Amino acid sequence: MAVYSYPGPRSADYKKPSSVDDCIPQARALTAKLVPSDRPTGPVVPEFRVRKGDRLLIVTVPDQDKYVAEAVTQVLTEGGAEEVRFIYPKELTGRDPERYSVEDGWREVALYEEGKASGTTADLLTGMGLAEATTTFLDTHPEYTGVFLDVAGGNSTRAFGKHRDKLRGTWPCNNWEWFLSRAHNFPLPLWEEMERRILEPLAKASEVRITDPEGTNIEFSLTAEEAIRWYNNAFVRGHLMMNPFQVTAGEFHGRLGYDVRTPPVFPKANGVLAGTANHCGFFPRIELYFERDRLVEVKGGGRYGDGIRELMDKHNDIQWPGYHDKGLFWLCDTALCTAVGAFRRKSDLFESYWVYPNLPERSRAGVFHLGFGSRAYRDEKTADQYCREHGVQRGHIHVHNYFATFEVRLRGTDYWYKIVDKGQLAALSDPELRAMAAQYGHPDELLKYDWIPPLPGINCEGDYLKDYAPDPTAYLKKRIEEGKTI
Ligand SMILES: [Fe+2]
Repeated sequence: MAVYSYPGPRSADYKKPSSVDDCIPQARALTAKLVPSDRPTGPVVPEFRVRKGDRLLIVTVPDQDKYVAEAVTQVLTEGGAEEVRFIYPKELTGRDPERYSVEDGWREVALYEEGKASGTTADLLTGMGLAEATTTFLDTHPEYTGVFLDVAGGNSTRAFGKHRDKLRGTWPCNNWEWFLSRAHNFPLPLWEEMERRILEPLAKASEVRITDPEGTNIEFSLTAEEAIRWYNNAFVRGHLMMNPFQVTAGEFHGRLGYDVRTPPVFPKANGVLAGTANHCGFFPRIELYFERDRLVEVKGGGRYGDGIRELMDKHNDIQWPGYHDKGLFWLCDTALCTAVGAFRRKSDLFESYWVYPNLPERSRAGVFHLGFGSRAYRDEKTADQYCREHGVQRGHIHVHNYFATFEVRLRGTDYWYKIVDKGQLAALSDPELRAMAAQYGHPDELLKYDWIPPLPGINCEGDYLKDYAPDPTAYLKKRIEEGKTI
């Protein structure tokens, strides 16, 4: 029997609820009453915040699980809400969202072309502009005191404008599997400590290396000052920012109200990003070559690769304001999510109302999503104006890596510290963190991944380049037919 140096596939196995009672315990666990000194909510964990007399609006999609909805309504009502109303895209926009499948990973570049990529104002859930439509609804329905919407991110907050105080949290719980996820119940103090330990080495990094068995191999170096600036801004709960450019670009600082006079850090990364998945789904293996952060060549990728190559050819004269060279696509995102119990959803992988049906898998701790596109150097207004003048879109698109090793050379030494080793967060094996975990449960259980994807030849039987890389969806479907985990 073959022996692999990566942990074997496994998957979470939640049972579809068949009654409201099946959902009540989780609804209670996720319900928080608002108090004045409330802790900040995160982009990954849904929290149902309620105060007495609330009239709450939950913006959802047509496949909303009815038992989840009933349980959450019941628990929010017990918590003091006078009304809980689920509202659907049709009521807000006059039309139903489309359905998507992870078979169409190429769509992510099409969304970019339509101006609906990550980092722009489109909502992540449906791409229909639900945040904007909800604010219009609130103009004529001022009686609603709180709204739950979308999956995360600053996009909704910005779109909410004058109603932003009503934005109470996210609503990714149309899907029962996601609602039941134990990832949401991870003890928050432990989560915070884990993230602190992941980020600490960034401040001391002089070089960074990202490698992955699917073929990624990227390197960059940093000055001491750049490393500190990166470290100071890298924390976003549940979604750590592991690329210095993404957190020092003007658009990020502008949002946080920081001083935008300091130019962004371009780490001048060199190397190749390779993989088979993005937020939309899967595609034939792609290789993206970067020189000094700039995407210079794309190999493979099927329709996804074709779309990227076409855009590069069409817009070969683009030089984003403030950037040191021409180029449409730049490495501008290396995010590490940290939800230990998150997983690849099986219930709606091939039929979802989410414009990004493959988004959930990237939430799992240790999975990287790397993105290329552009970020506003100074402010979003200037970038938007440039887009209008040049007939081009901003935002970025992705490749996921499941078994990455992310290591930093500590300044003044030859020592490389592995923050993530073959997909495993080093923090999860840290004796002090494990001791802390013991206060909440068994460390082995709490700090264990529920889901590890199958990659033939890498962590299970088969040949990666023959059985998987040309058509990952076909491979996953075959495994489903054989009753194997995906
Ligand atoms: Fe991103």
